[in-house]
Amino acid sequence: MLLFSIINLGIYGFVDSLTVTELSKFTTTGNFPQSSVRVDTTPSDRHLIYASGIPDHPWEKVNPNDATDQNYNISIPKIPHYNNGAHGCVPMGMIGITRTGVAIFNPLNVDLENAVEGQTQETFDSCDGHPTNTGSYHYHKIPDSCLYKGEVDEFIGVALDGFPIYGPNVSDVNSLLTSTDLDEYHGREVNGAYRYYATETWPYFLGCFKGVVLEILPGLHYNCEPANKTSASWEDWKEWNGYLCNCLQQGGQGGGNIPDPSQCGQNNLNRPANCPNVQECMNNNNPPMFCYDICQQQGNRPQFCQTLPVNDNNHACSVAAINIITVLLTFIAMIFI
Ligand SMILES: *[C@@H]1O[C@H](CO)[C@@H](O)[C@H](O)[C@H]1NC(C)=O
Ligand SMILES: *[C@@H]1O[C@H](CO)[C@@H](O)[C@H](O)[C@H]1NC(C)=O
Ligand SMILES: *[C@@H]1O[C@H](CO)[C@@H](O)[C@H](O)[C@H]1NC(C)=O
Repeated sequence: MLLFSIINLGIYGFVDSLTVTELSKFTTTGNFPQSSVRVDTTPSDRHLIYASGIPDHPWEKVNPNDATDQNYNISIPKIPHYNNGAHGCVPMGMIGITRTGVAIFNPLNVDLENAVEGQTQETFDSCDGHPTNTGSYHYHKIPDSCLYKGEVDEFIGVALDGFPIYGPNVSDVNSLLTSTDLDEYHGREVNGAYRYYATETWPYFLGCFKGVVLEILPGLHYNCEPANKTSASWEDWKEWNGYLCNCLQQGGQGGGNIPDPSQCGQNNLNRPANCPNVQECMNNNNPPMFCYDICQQQGNRPQFCQTLPVNDNNHACSVAAINIITVLLTFIAMIFI
């Protein structure tokens, strides 16, 4: 069984998922009993991250809100799906989660201004975070006071599309990484595996999602373009500096929950106005997850579904392939045990 596990984890490492080492870092010190995180790796297509969302460090009251237990159960794809160069916007709310189970947000405040630097900056406690009015403690900026220690190749957490997030001190570059060292998603490839990086520079965590997100995030869509790079100063946040794909930037769906996909069929006379834009799916060679959801869950498949395999979704194939290999290797392993 041990052999089976090692083989299994080896395969998942190979296909660009969180590595065994990264998974082992989802833990808390125990010094703050309310802070908890645990990863369930047993589902075939996803890791389930269970966390209280309460930080593994002190927090201070810097706004009217308290950090409270969020009872998170977050689905992260086991095999991140690259999404063919599409850019997923980073919506408001959680876009990633730290190895201690704390939410990572985009760099914007509720007025869509820079929450971290300049005139519009918000107040953070001495550990770089603060809670929302629903008690969700979160970071908008690199948590280098109490979580990130500044060590070389230090793992910070994972984005909701399944790619890991590292700190800016890296073994292959002599200075700290800044956003200019990174692509528009705010990451780069290391030994063939993609990683996002947190930096001291705008947009601090992610620019755009490179992969498909399993969680239904209000307003998330994948046809976002990063704005062209103009200047590197945060004052130009309105131009997003080419480093941020925000949902509201290009008249995206922004705001409001995406309704149940089963209600989003084109033929539904009472189709909610905030359903995903079906045209968006039609014009996309590699439709994001919600397009497939529409195809699968409604009786009357819209036109664009006709070109798609029935009962498949973006990464069902790779998961199936992994499962076949796993069964095969388990079988071989059984022979030797
Ligand atoms: C966590 O979420 C997953 C996927 O949505 C679900 O299958 C699972 O039952 C949930 N776990 C709990 C304890 O609610
Ligand atoms: C990176 O980390 C190493 C060791 O953890 C440390 O010696 C070095 O000063 C750090 N580099 C920077 C630029 O902070
Ligand atoms: C960025 O520049 C390219 C080429 O000039 C243009 O096609 C594109 O529309 C621009 N994107 C934005 C978001 O302004």
